[in-house]
Amino acid sequence: MMTPHKNQGGDSAALSIRSLVKRYGSVVATDGVSLDVSAGEFMSLLGPSGSGKTTLLMLLAGFEVADGGEIRMRDRDISRVPPNKRDIGMVFQRYALFPHMSVAQNVAFPLRMRGVAKADREARVRAALETVELTGYLDRMPAQLSGGQQQRVALARAIVFEPGILLMDEPLGALDRKLRKHMQVELKELQGRLGATVIYVTHDQEEALAMSDRVAIINAGRIEQLATPRELYDAPASAFVGDFIGEINLFDAKVEELESGGIKLASGFGPLTGTPVPGATFSRGQKVHVGIRPERIAVRAGAASDGWQAGIRQTIFNGSNVTVYATMQDGQELRATVAPNDREASLARGEAISLSAAPRDVFVFPAGAA
Ligand SMILES: Nc1ncnc2c1ncn2[C@@H]1O[C@H](COP(=O)(O)OP(=O)(O)OP(=O)(O)O)[C@@H](O)[C@H]1O
Ligand SMILES: [Mg+2]
Repeated sequence: MMTPHKNQGGDSAALSIRSLVKRYGSVVATDGVSLDVSAGEFMSLLGPSGSGKTTLLMLLAGFEVADGGEIRMRDRDISRVPPNKRDIGMVFQRYALFPHMSVAQNVAFPLRMRGVAKADREARVRAALETVELTGYLDRMPAQLSGGQQQRVALARAIVFEPGILLMDEPLGALDRKLRKHMQVELKELQGRLGATVIYVTHDQEEALAMSDRVAIINAGRIEQLATPRELYDAPASAFVGDFIGEINLFDAKVEELESGGIKLASGFGPLTGTPVPGATFSRGQKVHVGIRPERIAVRAGAASDGWQAGIRQTIFNGSNVTVYATMQDGQELRATVAPNDREASLARGEAISLSAAPRDVFVFPAGAA
């Protein structure tokens, strides 16, 4: 069986990155990334296509060389160490099994690269395949396996030399939804069993939230926010993060008044009070972005004297809740969710409603940051 790596090196970071930079011509794929990953942590990198997720993993694994910055693994600078000496296993974005090699030969490859003796190799290949539940597939060729099985072979190949750190680049990206869910659970279990430190790339936010201790939101080569799934959802640091994680209504507004209880804002559909994101400073008259989660907007039937006056555009049943599409006075649309049995869930198009949100649920972001 695999040796647990959990807590190795005490509280020190399993991996530390400082000011890492990678350029491809004029493209800055990694733009000054700093990051500490704890031993045994499951961290996801989540971001849109082209934001630099794969590049960051390739730098960590040593398949690309940084133009600047430093990578330390348990206090050792590995920036110039070749990939096979880094104690890092990687599952690539496309499985990248060697098509002319059997399953056993594929999984044995990293051991051969590291000069492990044949007898030892065979035992470890068997153990790794057992871990991913592919016992008995030793002699199959990659082309004779399903996508999910190929993925597990790639995983076995990444863990067979018992690396301290596992990098996985969209390992489930090519699988259908059902298999993907199943493999998510398997991967989490495997990680727990091995006590492995994992950096996991995905562009599926649901997957990142479900699997990770912390998630780094990557945007244009930079870490936009690094936090627990809960923090990202409840306190997004930017409109970009708010929009990327979960559902959010985003609209423009202007700062009217700065008060201790919140920022008073003017929007196209009426006044509102919001809470500034940490670290941002605002001044009167400034243009801002405002974000409100749909489930944090209260909907009331009828034209109440308080709240923002609106009309029903449509209601959509989602099973566990109903989304109300509201047309605001200035014509823009806000989404709010209500319980299926609420009276507001069955209002007809054109009926009057009023909307409101508590100041703490109204995020105020600097404009131009998204
Ligand atoms: N070998 C390369 N040569 C030139 N440009 C590259 C190379 N690899 C990546 N890039 C560029 O660097 C940027 C980041 O690419 P990267 O592959 O890291 O993105 P990603 O976040 O993994 O995207 P995806 O979700 O599509 O896999 C992109 O603009 C990409 O075009
Ligand atoms: Mg990629």
